[in-house]
Amino acid sequence: MKRKLLFFGLIATFPFLFAGVLDQQYVILGWNDLGMHCANKNFSKMAILPPYNNLKVQIIQKGDASTMPMVLTTGYSVTYEVPGNTYSDGKTNFWTYVNQLFGVSPAPNIGLTGVGLTGNMDMLNNHFHVEGIPLTPYPDSDLVNEHPYQLALMKAFDAANNLIGQTRNVIPVSAEISCVSSGCHGSEQGILNAHESVTGFNANGPNLCASCHADNALGTTGTPGTPIFSKAIHGKHGGYTNNCYKCHPGPNTQCYRDAMKTAGFTCQDCHGSVAQVASSITAGRQPWLQEPSCSSATCHGSAYAPEPNLLFRQSKGHGGLFCSACHGSPHAIVPTTQPNDNLQNITYQGWAGKLALCSVCHGVTPNMPGPHGAMPTAVNEIEGSIATDNSFVSVYPNPANDGQVNLQFQLKDPGNYKVLVFDINGRQKAILAHQDFSAGQYSMKLNTLAFAKGTYIARLSGKAGTFTRKFLIE
Ligand code: HEC
Ligand code: HEC
Ligand code: HEC
Ligand code: HEC
Ligand code: HEC
Repeated sequence: MKRKLLFFGLIATFPFLFAGVLDQQYVILGWNDLGMHCANKNFSKMAILPPYNNLKVQIIQKGDASTMPMVLTTGYSVTYEVPGNTYSDGKTNFWTYVNQLFGVSPAPNIGLTGVGLTGNMDMLNNHFHVEGIPLTPYPDSDLVNEHPYQLALMKAFDAANNLIGQTRNVIPVSAEISCVSSGCHGSEQGILNAHESVTGFNANGPNLCASCHADNALGTTGTPGTPIFSKAIHGKHGGYTNNCYKCHPGPNTQCYRDAMKTAGFTCQDCHGSVAQVASSITAGRQPWLQEPSCSSATCHGSAYAPEPNLLFRQSKGHGGLFCSACHGSPHAIVPTTQPNDNLQNITYQGWAGKLALCSVCHGVTPNMPGPHGAMPTAVNEIEGSIATDNSFVSVYPNPANDGQVNLQFQLKDPGNYKVLVFDINGRQKAILAHQDFSAGQYSMKLNTLAFAKGTYIARLSGKAGTFTRKFLIE
């Protein structure tokens, strides 16, 4: 009897849950512009970077079979907060030294641009943004250990101030700037002593490195004759180390944590050595503004290019959405090894990784090319068919040699199923479907022109279990 009650309870709650998740009219996507923001904790001797975080949000009104989705701005508003992290003054001594360092006196817990740890985001073109959130890596509940991957909560409201949706994504911050803890320098005072001959230098601190050394990160132009900050720091240290985590956060934080890391790339593969980060500036590279690009010929190629003369984090692609809305921020390209980075896309499409499920925004699977011109796969129910089992019925031709594979499967148990294709190394190559199916037989055509020759595995998984079928592309 108990068992039966539980069973009914489940049936009663499921449609309710789905109504809450799937029938929503709006998709709220939020992210941070960088995979990591660094900030000093102690400003009494030196300031490399102040507490300064940025968030962006896009609101999408979901489409359906007859309407395209729409990116919304006018008439809507967005707030931000970092639950569990409500103050910064005292977690860092930034406000004690901010006037000496930056010549301005924001109130405690207010950052250099006048914003605090919670507030309203500004509308800009087709998105909302906030710059300069003075966040520290210390939530209210732990003032000792760094928590670099806290979640920001972004809420969207309509003109009548009704909450229309919300999202959470990582607001990354680390104070692991480890000149001393790396074992390289004895003390911060020791670093200052190396500058004692420089006029205008504050021998006992505090010093803003970027006040004399031009720095595009802080928008300073520096004093004449002083090397650009990135060139000075990488140039001076390139002879001692090629380990980026001696300074960039770091052995504990592991800020580079994304799909590119999983694929085996090192910092140096994309940026060159420490010495080359500096020598490229001597050769004319603008630090912070000219960085590696996804679309270079040896990488992903021109179909995956950021906008001309813009960085990845500044670029928009499909439907006017930022690259980061679907892919995450630089060095945090989803899927990443930090569960919080993956949360947003898991919430919307059910799995980690780039936002690839058309129906999240379109409500349906459009029968037209989507992001980067890729064609979605149409699922056709075979009329009048009866399912006797849950399984693949056929995958043909196998081997495939004319750029197309037909997959046919049957489902006796209706429910939510995914059809994915993996290569022999277990890397996901395509998402053919992820939707609710009623009982019956289905067919779909996978376009294989972009696939390398080799063995692949089609996988159908859901309520009734997981079923696979191998096929060969010649
Ligand atoms: C008051 C201006 C001033 C400030 C503030 C300042 N620097 Fe410098 N820095 C200079 C000048 C000028 C030089 C070049 C001196 C020389 O060549 O001997 C220099 C040289 C350097 C170099 C060596 C570059 C090389 O290739 O040899 C490094 C590294 C450096 N600074 C780091 C820093 C850091 C880190 C800070 C912040 C703690 C900082 N500087 C703050 C003026 C400044
Ligand atoms: C797969 C290539 C790749 C790897 C590996 C990589 N980077 Fe980057 N890095 C980039 C790209 C691309 C950008 C520019 C981001 C943009 O266009 O918005 C960038 C930008 C940066 C910036 C400027 C700030 C920012 O985020 O835009 C820093 C600092 C940086 N990288 C440091 C590192 C360090 C340190 C490592 C290793 C721990 C590393 N990168 C590994 C590609 C890479
Ligand atoms: C000695 C410490 C140190 C080491 C080692 C170091 N960095 Fe940096 N890096 C810094 C600092 C400090 C900044 C911030 C400079 C600024 O504010 O402009 C920076 C900024 C950068 C930037 C942004 C500015 C630019 O030039 O575009 C990139 C990219 C970068 N580092 C890449 C790397 C990579 C890749 C490595 C390892 C191969 C590395 N760094 C090793 C200290 C270091
Ligand atoms: C609406 C979501 C969306 C937006 C916006 C978007 N992409 Fe994509 N991106 C995808 C999907 C889905 C794929 C996989 C399909 C494919 O490989 O063609 C993909 C694939 C990629 C890949 C290849 C990665 C791989 O796994 O092989 C790169 C690189 C890429 N995108 C870069 C970008 C850049 C740069 C921008 C901004 C100019 C951007 N994307 C905007 C959804 C998006
Ligand atoms: C993150 C949300 C999102 C996802 C995911 C998404 N789209 Fe879109 N798509 C949009 C928006 C927004 C537009 C812009 C509609 C307009 O104003 O024209 C758009 C436009 C389109 C258009 C119209 C032509 C164009 O490129 O502007 C097509 C076709 C399309 N999408 C197909 C797809 C397909 C196929 C997929 C899945 C592979 C997909 N989209 C995934 C948001 C999305």
